[in-house]
Amino acid sequence: MEKVIDGEKLNVPNHVAIILDGNGRWAKKRLMPRNYGHKAGAKTLEKVCDDAKELGIKYLTVYAFSTENWKRSVEEVSGIMNILRDYLADCIKWADEKNMRIRIIGDRTALDADIVEKIEEAERVSKIYDGLNFTIAINYGGRDDIRRGVKKLISDVNSGKINEEISEDLISSYLDTADIPDPDLLIRTSGEERLSNFLIWQLAYTEFYFTDCLWPDFNMNELKKAVRYYNGRDRRYGGVK
Ligand code: IPE
Ligand code: IPE
Ligand code: MG
Repeated sequence: MEKVIDGEKLNVPNHVAIILDGNGRWAKKRLMPRNYGHKAGAKTLEKVCDDAKELGIKYLTVYAFSTENWKRSVEEVSGIMNILRDYLADCIKWADEKNMRIRIIGDRTALDADIVEKIEEAERVSKIYDGLNFTIAINYGGRDDIRRGVKKLISDVNSGKINEEISEDLISSYLDTADIPDPDLLIRTSGEERLSNFLIWQLAYTEFYFTDCLWPDFNMNELKKAVRYYNGRDRRYGGVK
């Protein structure tokens, strides 16, 4: 979608994915515990959802907790889970006011029952909204997404439910992101330049934008910088231009 942003005509990406990174370092700089950084990060996310919608971004997908993040201390993991509890409860309240559809991707079977209930409620009550499609990856790993998809596909082939050729589209339809288009732009904050097992299948042709900004400091200005960077890229998909 084309939009005039600060006097400049820009092509706004339809789907932006973000690896929210740097909460721990942000807290450390302030001599505070890591969970203080995660709390600040959640506040930033609330604001960035509004900013994304204002820019005309239709899909925003964020990496909040990876399948590898269980390796952190019990204290940090439980702190993050509590923040997610509160965040999901807020999302349920915001859905109507922000015209926001909420989806959660990742293996929810490993999450506490009350969190799963909140996820289900958030998805159910927000189904009717389409201003912003907001997806949170919780206990998500790209390899695990593919593993679970393959397992389900094999079971559907064995039961006779699927007897067509295995196409890329068919595989995509077995992933957690089945009804979400692939991201156009991936942002990772905090200076790290790796995927850390995020959406490995879905990011095949996505443009990547890395910034040193720590996630709690991310804001509208940073988001606009990423969108401007995206506009400078020449997207090819393997063809010639
Ligand atoms: C990202 O911040 C949030 C999660 C992974 C939950 P980090 O906690 O990874 O922050 P750093 O990388 O240690 O600064
Ligand atoms: C990736 O960040 C996971 C999330 C942002 C949820 P990490 O900080 O956990 O990743 P690594 O350890 O730097 O690769
Ligand atoms: Mg990190």
